Amino acid sequence: MKILITGGAGFIGSHVIRQFVNNYPEYHIFNLDALTYAGNLENLKDIEQSSNYSFLKGDITDESFINTIFEEHRFEGVIHLAAESHVDRSITDPLAFAKTNILGTMVLLNAFKNLWNDNWEGKRFYHVSTDEVYGTLGNTGLFTETTPYDPNSPYSASKASSDHFVRAYGETYGMPYVISNCSNNYGPNHFPEKLIPLFINNIINNKSLPVYGDGNYTRDWLYVIDHARAIDLVFHKGSNHETYNIGGFNEWKNIDLVRLLCKLMDQQLGREEGNSERLITYVKDRPGHDLRYAIDASKINKALGWAPSVTFEEGLDKTIDWYLANEEWLQHVTSGAYQDYYKKQYQ
Ligand code: NAD
Ligand code: TYD
Repeated sequence: MKILITGGAGFIGSHVIRQFVNNYPEYHIFNLDALTYAGNLENLKDIEQSSNYSFLKGDITDESFINTIFEEHRFEGVIHLAAESHVDRSITDPLAFAKTNILGTMVLLNAFKNLWNDNWEGKRFYHVSTDEVYGTLGNTGLFTETTPYDPNSPYSASKASSDHFVRAYGETYGMPYVISNCSNNYGPNHFPEKLIPLFINNIINNKSLPVYGDGNYTRDWLYVIDHARAIDLVFHKGSNHETYNIGGFNEWKNIDLVRLLCKLMDQQLGREEGNSERLITYVKDRPGHDLRYAIDASKINKALGWAPSVTFEEGLDKTIDWYLANEEWLQHVTSGAYQDYYKKQYQ
């Protein structure tokens, strides 16, 4: 089977590539990535020489390039992760999100439709999405697969729109698809613009920890390798035209998570207890900030037997270990354009 994975040089995509390349030697895995600021081939060093892996550099919004590679390689499966993924960037530059996340998804859907033209046996388009499409929860309740879409940020609106187009291609053209909507991921190779890696990097460098608003926002955290395992299961065993919610059963208020991170980092860095907590700084809130995300993952648990394999403390320990052991990676991704982004976002 020839499988196209988009966004494979990014955070989650690189773990999905590794999961498929290592576990399915009978497949050929093509990684299509534009290598934006978030894409980094260093994430894939350990598998880049594998005989069942190829890298294709290109943009999912480039229709003629996409049509050409679909005709040339005749992908039977697509696992689509390429996206602009950071809420704060979507607030500054919403059009970039519409272009990549909506138009880019449509270009891929169209190329897949035109290639197989109703010959759908053994084909599958897997769209990787987010729980943010459901909007925000109050203090109680969980997102299920039937929660109405109610996105609040340009990022989540663009992902919601792309989910709708995937469904529309299923209904209109009979394209076999699956969608999963996952909660916040964390783990190795996470670009340090998102909460956990940003704060790990700042603690290492004794820089302030900018907590938005009062810090009482809640997210449901999942270790990235558990997400990659879930994607493998849904791709192989999920039912066509179904959606699966994926989550960590692991809700944390931002401020409690930041305090835990500070404690674990102090231990690992051999710093006095309380040292890193002194870096916490409350800053201006994010506009349209969603109060709480939490996933009911019982469908994927019952239907496919999936559950997270690590506890949050184990996952955070592994993550911190990885960042401390990969200072060079951190230095590469935080030089240059990152410094400009940081200044604009936080000063
Ligand atoms: P990321 O920002 O780390 O990586 C995105 C990748 O897509 C990068 O390698 C980038 O180069 C590539 N890309 C961006 N625009 C492209 C384009 N026009 N053409 C080709 N490649 C392009 O993102 P991530 O956190 O790994 O998220 C991957 C997917 O999972 C996204 O679709 C995101 O919406 C979804 N998701 C993320 C989370 C999370 O917590 N990070 C949770 C649920 C769902
Ligand atoms: P983030 O990692 O950007 O993920 P998302 O917004 O997609 O959930 O943010 C996680 C939470 O942390 C969210 O409530 C916003 C908050 N946050 C901060 O308080 N400070 C920061 O510098 C960042 C990046 C996020």
